[in-house]
Amino acid sequence: MNRPLTVAVAGCGSRGQHTYAKTLMTMPDKAVVVAAADTDPEKLEGMRRLTGIDADACYASVEEMLRQPRLADLMLICTPDAWHYAQAKAALLLDYDLLLEKPIAPEAAQCEELRDIAMARGRKVAVCHVLRYTAFYQKIKQLLDAGTIGKIMNIQAIEQVCYWHQAHSFVRGNWRNKDLSSCMILQKCCHDMDILLWLTGKHCRRVSSFGSLGLFRAENAPENAAERCVDCPVGKDCPYNAVQFYLDRYRTGGNAWPQNMVAFEPTEEKLMEALRRGPYGRCVYRCDNNVVDHQVVNLELEDGITVNFTMTAFTAHGGRVLRVGGTMGELYCDMRENAIKVMRYGREDEIIDVRTLTDDFSGHGGGDVRMVREFVDLVRGETAMSPTLTSIERSVESHLVALAAEESRLADGRMIAL
Ligand SMILES: NC(=O)c1ccc[n+]([C@@H]2O[C@H](COP(=O)([O-])OP(=O)(O)OC[C@H]3O[C@@H](n4cnc5c(N)ncnc54)[C@H](O)[C@@H]3O)[C@@H](O)[C@H]2O)c1
Repeated sequence: MNRPLTVAVAGCGSRGQHTYAKTLMTMPDKAVVVAAADTDPEKLEGMRRLTGIDADACYASVEEMLRQPRLADLMLICTPDAWHYAQAKAALLLDYDLLLEKPIAPEAAQCEELRDIAMARGRKVAVCHVLRYTAFYQKIKQLLDAGTIGKIMNIQAIEQVCYWHQAHSFVRGNWRNKDLSSCMILQKCCHDMDILLWLTGKHCRRVSSFGSLGLFRAENAPENAAERCVDCPVGKDCPYNAVQFYLDRYRTGGNAWPQNMVAFEPTEEKLMEALRRGPYGRCVYRCDNNVVDHQVVNLELEDGITVNFTMTAFTAHGGRVLRVGGTMGELYCDMRENAIKVMRYGREDEIIDVRTLTDDFSGHGGGDVRMVREFVDLVRGETAMSPTLTSIERSVESHLVALAAEESRLADGRMIAL
């Protein structure tokens, strides 16, 4: 292709605008945003200013944008989870290629239907499993594929959601209620299921799972806790105090995520107003949340590989930890520390500092930017489908595994065969 790829952005929030459109703005020779849609006029105006698109290329909803004839080569679907299925289906039927935010859709049948439509129409669809593109996981994959620790026998993996991220996104925020988004193990951990299948190169045979919403419930509210942190007499001692948290973050981190989810282009005044009235100022014990705050999943992969995965809110810091046990050695990998420890049995341990492998640790350890670049090159016809690139055919299995885990959790840990 000897012109820039044209891009329409569906949903101009954190991912659509602050992550993907900003990345596209750094590569104007390859891709250019030509249309955008958001139901929030402030975010749409922010996108118009960022990209310089005409006001008549800005649509008040994705549905309105999808009623137009095809406006661009590629559509980015970055709306909340519950909208992905209908919007992706309509966009595929208009023959857009898609960069589709995860989860693909909340139901297994919907995920499979979108995959089938994409394949039947020959559309390229990348699901945003950005972790595959990080230097951290790419190095682990390279070590495993090279046989550094022999044959993989067992994996322990932990997704440390972290106490404040749970409160922000999964108690007060957009992903708090599975009926408004999707279950926690799908929305948050389809990344982990995807990584586990990709790293091992195996399919999953069976799954069982336990977990619950243990803490963020009305009966656990401290005595005298108010409905909102701004009014709370016991907030001083509460680690989930929204006023303290967001104002501290604003003062040290400016208008970045997650402050910009509380108030668009935040100032101290806008944040305080949002905490007085909006969802992010609510007491964590008095929200309409129902997604779990801790869950474990046991997986049996092909060749008898066993995996134990834990998702938990109850960690001081975020990040993922992975321990892979092989027949000839072990890997201990800590994403927050950017460290991979290679322990070959009977030999000296070796520590790989991932910071020496890349200097881009922007969004998701640099994965956001690398995924966009790789997918744009693929759609432009400049590269072939790489083994790393996520695609809807490759991504559906991670969703089916996550949904099977949820089915098991709801059935008291019953084993689900895949
Ligand atoms: N790949 C990842 O690692 C990753 C990380 C975070 C979020 N996500 C996913 O990205 C998606 C978007 O998340 P976000 O953090 O950007 O949320 P967000 O709330 O910041 O953005 C979503 C935007 O969609 C808009 N919107 C909702 N319905 C619409 C409609 N019908 N038409 C037009 N606009 C509409 C909202 O006004 C909002 O601006 C979610 O599905 C989320 O699960 C993925």
